[in-house]
Amino acid sequence: MAAKKIGILTGGGDCPGLNAVIRAVVRRAERDNLEVIGIRNGFLGLIEGDVEPLTAFSVIGILPKGGTILGTSRVNPLRSVEDKQRVLSNIQRFGLDALIVVGGDGTLKAAYDLYASSAVPLVGVPKTIDNDLRGTDYTFGFDTAVNVVRDAVDRLHSTAESHHRVMVVEVMGNTVGWIALAGGMSGGADLILIPEKPYRLEEMCAVLESRRKRGRAFSVVVVAEGAAPAGHPLPADVGRGTSTGVGYRIAAEITSRLGIETRVTVLGHIQRGGSPTAFDRILATRFGLHAVELCLRGQFGYMVGLQGTKVVPVLLEFATAGPKSVALEQYAEAEIFFG
Ligand code: F6P
Repeated sequence: MAAKKIGILTGGGDCPGLNAVIRAVVRRAERDNLEVIGIRNGFLGLIEGDVEPLTAFSVIGILPKGGTILGTSRVNPLRSVEDKQRVLSNIQRFGLDALIVVGGDGTLKAAYDLYASSAVPLVGVPKTIDNDLRGTDYTFGFDTAVNVVRDAVDRLHSTAESHHRVMVVEVMGNTVGWIALAGGMSGGADLILIPEKPYRLEEMCAVLESRRKRGRAFSVVVVAEGAAPAGHPLPADVGRGTSTGVGYRIAAEITSRLGIETRVTVLGHIQRGGSPTAFDRILATRFGLHAVELCLRGQFGYMVGLQGTKVVPVLLEFATAGPKSVALEQYAEAEIFFG
């Protein structure tokens, strides 16, 4: 049955582009005279019945705004039998024929479980600065975060050069290194450390030492929060929103092994804030439009994904089966510029 009334929620960590999705969903739905209900604070709003009608008027001027007008939370709707029951009865109570869930791995995994266990008619939209969802070349939010890192690396280069220092920049990315790789490559970092390629302190110091011998006493090192030395597990606190301390550990080693002065910058939530880039605005908008199309076709249990230049349906089960990691061949492209 084609959807007449669509609910939309944004869950998990926020990122730039969420409002662009909401705007696109509302505007596309209007074309087919569908009603749209905004659910506040992710799945928490479905548990508590906290909703608001969304109209074209509600979404005026939100395209360039960071964050989400609906609010978000990391609440898992399956945390208890009672909560799951509340979610199911609120879907009935609000008369939702379809639910658009905008989220990262945690939110979309919960969405998939709701779909698989209770046939909730839902469609996912992949959001995260980490770019770690399978079945889509890019998630929206990633490009904006990468540009924040690129800008930071550009700025740190000049001060590193003046003071002949090593600047270590710790970036987000959870258990994968997409932000570090793309942010570091675009800023011309001298070394990039990612979780997919455990680092060796001797090799890292050899790179910096060879630069010094060539008269380049300064360096900029980009470190993913999940990076770990060879033979060690990923930092236990990765993905918790506080520094894993890996940037500080690397800097201390550089100072003690090479005697070079170091400084550390932890970019943190700056990477998640602000206005989305043009790329993210367009991607988020296209995702929103295609999510409504899937609802109209009754194609539930899928997420929209970007493959090449096309937006395609991807099984949620596949998308959430595990993180999309950086391939070592791609990391090797960046390694050419190390040192
Ligand atoms: O998944 C997005 C992300 O920003 C990760 O890169 C980071 O590790 C985590 O969320 C931070 O979580 P919180 O929003 O709870 O601080």
